[in-house]
Formats: sequence, structure tokens, C-alpha cells
Amino acid sequence: MLDLREITYQPQTGSEKILDDISFNVHENELILICGNSGAGKTTLLEIISGLTIPQKGSISWKNKTISARQRRWISGVVFQFPERYFLGTTVGKELKFGHKSLREKNIDIVLKKVGLSGINLAQAPEKLSGGQQRRLAVAVQLMRNPTILLLDEPTAGLDWSMKNDVKNLVHNLQNKNTIIIVTHEPSLFEGIPYKIITLEKGKIKKLMKEHYGG
Ligand SMILES: Nc1ncnc2c1ncn2[C@@H]1O[C@H](COP(=O)(O)OP(=O)(O)OP(=O)(O)O)[C@@H](O)[C@H]1O
Ligand SMILES: [Mg+2]
Repeated sequence: MLDLREITYQPQTGSEKILDDISFNVHENELILICGNSGAGKTTLLEIISGLTIPQKGSISWKNKTISARQRRWISGVVFQFPERYFLGTTVGKELKFGHKSLREKNIDIVLKKVGLSGINLAQAPEKLSGGQQRRLAVAVQLMRNPTILLLDEPTAGLDWSMKNDVKNLVHNLQNKNTIIIVTHEPSLFEGIPYKIITLEKGKIKKLMKEHYGG
């Protein structure tokens, strides 16, 4: 279980707390959705969970052991908003292999299957993929590291309906096998997949997790 306790964060440059006394937990292989208006602190929360930002107060533990920001970076796979803007590889294959010195081709096949991109042409440029496929590729890049926790920041932003469905199916495939935290403005899109939801409002938890098993 990932357990956040009393996380409070105020940037040095800011006069107000961006996150104020946030506590919640996520069970292993659970899907949790984080909702809330623009500026509520959702992205900041993802940055803190994944160890990229350090809160002034509070602790985070995994399986009952407190984990440092450095350890959290190690176990987290983060896909930020509009990840396709940050592709570095000139081909899909290169994008997947980035940072992996010795890599078996088999790993690529396994990961591509997980995100529903089996058989994709590895020699093509990432920009040639459709919007939904690009999001899948961004998730695949993170899965190559075999992260314990997968964090997605608004994975459906800017996609049309059929591509949003692509992302939903992707989450459906990963669900029950990965601990997944998704920031989203459209929780209803994930109907049919069991999830818990928390709503942030001005840095505080507005609604505590409510189990949702709609379908
Ligand atoms: N380094 C910083 N210094 C000062 N203020 C910041 C800093 N980073 C974020 N903020 C402010 O903190 C608040 C929360 O930002 P955050 O990006 O986490 O919100 P969000 O919920 O992800 O919003 P959105 O839905 O627009 O992505 C915003 O008001 C933002 O302007
Ligand atoms: Mg955000």
C-alpha cells in the first residue's frame, strides 16, 4: 500500500500552500483517480508522489516503510501531460530503448503488448503515430523501467473521442497488474473499471475516496 500522511507543500516562490494536509492511501494494483479544478494541486501531488518535488511536511510510505524522494523516483513511472511533445527518439524503437544499455528485444515486445501496440513498426518516427498511439507509446516508455507505481497526468487531454477510448482500454489492460494513479478531468470515461476517486479543491481533499464500481 502507498500511504500519504499529512503532505503539505508550499513553494519557496509562493505565498500560499499548494497542498495542505493531504492524507490518503492506494492499495497495491489499485486504480485511483485524482480530480479537481485547474490549479487545485493535482500535478503538484503527482510530482510529490514521484519524488520530483519535496514537501515541507508529511511522509510517504510503501508497504509500511517510509520511502525517500529518491526511492520514489526509482519506483515511479510518470507520464506528464502531452508526453508526445517530449519524445526524443527519432524512431519508436529508439524512444523505447532510451536509457536502457542492455536490453532484450523481448522486453520491448512484452511492453508493446501491454499497451496494445504489438507489431507496431519500430522504425517509424513517433510523430507518425496517431494521438492515442502516441499516448500509449509514452506509457510504454515508462513501463520499460518496470515501475511499481504508474502515474498519468491527464492522459486523455486534447484527444478526440476514439482516442480517449484508446487510453481507457490501455488503463483497462494495465488495471489489476499495476498500481495506477491518474489525474483526470473526466472520471466518467473510466466507468466500468473499478477505481477510487479523490477530489482536490485548493490543495485540500474535498471528497475522501469513494469506491466506484460503475459499469
Ligand atoms: N513553483 C511554483 N511556485 C508558485 N506557484 C506554483 C508553483 N507550482 C505550481 N504553482 C501553483 O500551484 C497551484 C497548483 O498547481 P498544479 O499545477 O498542481 O494544479 P493542477 O491541479 O495540476 O492544475 P491543472 O488542472 O491546470 O493542471 C496553481 O495555482 C499553480 O499556479
Ligand atoms: Mg495539472
